[in-house]
Amino acid sequence: MRRALIAGNWKMNLDRAASVALAKAIAEQAKAVEGVDLAVFPPSVYIDAVRETLHGSRVSWGAQNMYPQPNGAFTGEISAAMLVDLGCHYVILGHSERRHILGETDAQINQKILAALAAGLVPVVCVGELLADREAGHTGKVIRQQLEGSLANLSAEQIAASVIAYEPVWAIGTGKVASPEQAEEVHMDLRKILAGRYNATIAEGVRILYGGSVKASNAAELLAQPNVDGALVGGASLKADEFLGIAAGVSRKA
Ligand code: 13P
Repeated sequence: MRRALIAGNWKMNLDRAASVALAKAIAEQAKAVEGVDLAVFPPSVYIDAVRETLHGSRVSWGAQNMYPQPNGAFTGEISAAMLVDLGCHYVILGHSERRHILGETDAQINQKILAALAAGLVPVVCVGELLADREAGHTGKVIRQQLEGSLANLSAEQIAASVIAYEPVWAIGTGKVASPEQAEEVHMDLRKILAGRYNATIAEGVRILYGGSVKASNAAELLAQPNVDGALVGGASLKADEFLGIAAGVSRKA
């Protein structure tokens, strides 16, 4: 049985005070929501402040990115060990904004995933097609390429310790959410790819989140799909009510 995860990717938003206030509000409201894992991903400079606020609550935290090397002359970068030091449980890797704006490749993402796992972090590995890919009928091919490239050389134990997020690029920040059927179709495909690469038991255990314009009003029907195990939420995660409203959709499912 896969336990749902509702993850809030704050991206490059908020300042220190607003991050702490949001974390506080989420921790408070989270007390009323059961049967679902909750996590927030603040900008890295505010992780420590958020950690102090969330410590002892039922909300975990993580980072939006990291660098694969353990230490050294990598100006501006942050290692997996540093994130562990900040109490991070998760790290988002391969987000489409990093793939498409910052030019990250599957090979680089793969290095990051391996380093994250080695440090004991849970990678939230993002994949997703562009609108042009979908319109050309290439969604399946793109998703497979990204998944296989990002997960190269991962053992069965390592994939079992990871989370996958399907985020169609055309649905991110656009208000155009994938239909529950569109999401379910890709999630099922992803699980089939995992079953082929590993085995059915591993594939059945991996949590696959949907991301892209998820909000409280559309979450329940997405989360009701059998292969949608949670949500990776951007804009709506910046408001405690919305974020917890999404989590409440899972509770109803359970
Ligand atoms: P939105 O929820 O703002 O569409 O962002 C989704 C996302 O990219 C989460 O990682």
